Amino acid sequence: MVTTRELRDRAGDEPITMLTAYDAPTAAVIDDAGIDVILVGDSMGNAVLGHDSTLPVTLEEVQSRTGAVARATEDALVVADMPFLSFGVDDADSVENAGRMLKEADADAVKIESGPHTVELTRKLAQLGIPVMAHLGLTPQHVNQLGGYQRQGTDPDAAEELLELAREHEDAGAFSLVLEHVPANLAAQVTAALDIPTIGIGAGPDTNGQVLVITDVLGLDEWSPPFSKQYADLRGEMTSAVESYKREVESGEFPADEHSHVEDDVDDVY
Ligand code: KIV
Repeated sequence: MVTTRELRDRAGDEPITMLTAYDAPTAAVIDDAGIDVILVGDSMGNAVLGHDSTLPVTLEEVQSRTGAVARATEDALVVADMPFLSFGVDDADSVENAGRMLKEADADAVKIESGPHTVELTRKLAQLGIPVMAHLGLTPQHVNQLGGYQRQGTDPDAAEELLELAREHEDAGAFSLVLEHVPANLAAQVTAALDIPTIGIGAGPDTNGQVLVITDVLGLDEWSPPFSKQYADLRGEMTSAVESYKREVESGEFPADEHSHVEDDVDDVY
C-alpha cells in the first residue's frame, strides 16, 4: 500500500507516478500496473461527464466515483479531488465535505485547488488527519477568473507568489503539491525549495513526479492539452468494435450458436 508518508519520504528519489481514474475497471488496470497514486480528479467533468469545464462537478459525483476507484484499488494511494465550492466557502462545511471523502468514499487523501484562501484549511485538515495534496499553477476551477486555461507563473511576480504559496502550503501540512501548466524552470525551483514532493502536469521534467488525465493517455478524447501525451488510440479501438458489432447484428452473424442456448423442454409452448 502506498502511503502519504512514503510519498513524502520518496521526494527526490524514484519519480512518483500518478494518473486520474473515474471508474473501477480503469482503476484496477492502473493499480495493477503499479502506478503510485490514483487521482479521482474533477477533470471527470470534461473527461467523462460531458461538461465543458470542471465547475458543474458535484461532491456526490466525486464521492461516488471515488468509492468505485477505491473498491478496485489494492496498492495505489487514492486521492479524491474536492470539487468547485465544496471547500473554501464555509470552514465547517469544507472540513465535513473533505471528511466525507475519507469516511464514506474510502479515499486516502483529498486534493484541493489551492490559493491564499486554502492555507488555513490545509492546516486544519492536516491536523484532523485528512491528508491534503495542494494544487498550484493553473487551477481550472478559476477558469472564469483566469479567462481560460493559460500557463501560470510566467512573470517574476506571479512566479514568486506561487513559490511563496507552495511554501505556505507545505508549512500548513500538505503532503504533496501538484504544479499545473507552469514553466519548467519555475517548477524546478519550487521542487528544490520544498521537502514535500511536487507532481507536475505541464510543468517539465524536474518535478518529483508526473500526473496525466487517463482519457488523454488512452486517446479517448478528441482534444487533449499540448503538454499531455497519448499512449493509445482507444477512441479508434472503440469505434471499430462498435462498428463491428453493428455490422454483425445487421448481417445476422451475431449472436452465433455459441452465444445462444436451446432447451428441448420449451420447444412446444407456442
Ligand atoms: O482534476 C484533475 O484531474 C486534476 C489533475 C489534472 C491534476 O486536477
